[in-house]
Amino acid sequence: MKEQKTIFSGIKPSGDLTIGNYIGAISQWVEMQERSNCIFSIVDYHAITVKQNPDDLRRRVLDITKIYLAAGINPKRSIIFQQSTVPAHTELAWILNCSGAYMADLKKMTQYKDKAGDKEEAISVGLFGYPVLMAADILLYDTQAVPVGDDQKQHVELTRDIAKRFNNEYGPIFTIPEAVVKKEGARVMSLLEPSKKMAKSDGSANAFIALLDDPELAKKKIMKAVTDSGTDIDYDPENRPALANLLTIYAQLGNRQIPRLVRDYAGKGYGDFKKDLGEVVGKFLTEFQTKFNEISDDDAQAVLEEGRKQAQEITEKKMTQIRQAIGVR
Ligand code: AMP
Ligand code: TRP
Repeated sequence: MKEQKTIFSGIKPSGDLTIGNYIGAISQWVEMQERSNCIFSIVDYHAITVKQNPDDLRRRVLDITKIYLAAGINPKRSIIFQQSTVPAHTELAWILNCSGAYMADLKKMTQYKDKAGDKEEAISVGLFGYPVLMAADILLYDTQAVPVGDDQKQHVELTRDIAKRFNNEYGPIFTIPEAVVKKEGARVMSLLEPSKKMAKSDGSANAFIALLDDPELAKKKIMKAVTDSGTDIDYDPENRPALANLLTIYAQLGNRQIPRLVRDYAGKGYGDFKKDLGEVVGKFLTEFQTKFNEISDDDAQAVLEEGRKQAQEITEKKMTQIRQAIGVR
C-alpha cells in the first residue's frame, strides 16, 4: 500500500471565519483527509500577535473546532488540536529563530508589511516572528503538504528555506513541505473592494460573509456587493474582478462549474444572478449552521483533548531528535 501523505494546516482564532476561509482552506482539507494523515490546528499563539480579548479568544477556539467538525473534518481520521496546548510549537519556534530564520527574509513577508505599515517601532516581536512559529507548526509533523489559501504561499516558501538551512547545519531532520493551493477559490475577494482579499478583520461587515452570519443577512450582503460595469454575466477576472469573484463563490458553494454558470445566465442580468447567488449562499449557510448547532461545547472540548494527546506524542518524539541534534538537554 502506498504510504499516506502527512498534511498540516491551521487557522488563527482572531475573528469570525468567512466563506473565504472555507472555500480557500477548509473545503480542501475535507477532501484531503480521505487519502492522507491530516493534522488541523487552531493556532491561538498566532492570534495573540495582535491584541485579543481573552474571553473572546477562548470562545473562538471552541467555535472554530465546531466549524472544522461541521465542515466534515472527521476527528477519528484527522487530528484536531489547539496549538497552545502542545508546548513543542513554541519551543521549536525559538530554536528556528536561532537557526534558520533570518531577519531579512521576515522583513519581506507581505502579511507582515501589510500589518506593520510604516510604524515598525510599535510592532511586537511576535508579529514579526509569526512565520517562524508557522514554520515550527509545519515542520514538527514531518509535513509534506500544507493546504492553504493563496496568501499563505509565501509563508510556506519561507518554511522550506528555514528547514533547508537547519538541515544543512544539523543533518536531515526536517521534511521539506509544499503548499497546496486550489486552482479556483484560493483567494476569495471582498464583496465591496474586489482588489482586496475577503478578510474576517475587515472593518466593513458588508465586505465579507461569515460562516455564522444569519443566512438572510448574507443574502442582503450579496445584493449590496459591487459589480463591474457591463450587464451580461461573463467570467473575466482581469477586467471584471467583482463579477469573477461572485461567480467563483457561486461555483464553490453551489457545486457548479463556472463555464456552465456563464452559459446558464446568458441573456440574464446582474439582478437575477445575484438573487440566485443569494439563495445558494443562504442554503449553504443554513445547512452548515444546522450541523454547527448540533455540536456542543463539551463535544468540541473532547475532540481538542484527544487531538492534544495525539499531537503531544508526535511532537515529543520529534523534539527529542531536534534537541539531540542541536546539543541541548
Ligand atoms: P486566517 O484566517 O488568516 O488564519 O487564514 C486561514 C486560512 O484561510 C489560510 O489558509 C488562508 O489562506 C485562508 N483564507 C483566508 N482568507 C481567504 C480568502 N479570502 N480566500 C481564500 N482563502 C482564504
Ligand atoms: N498563518 C496562517 C494564516 O494566517 C495560519 C497558520 C499558522 C498556518 N500556522 C500554520 C497555516 C501552519 C498552515 C500551516 O492563515
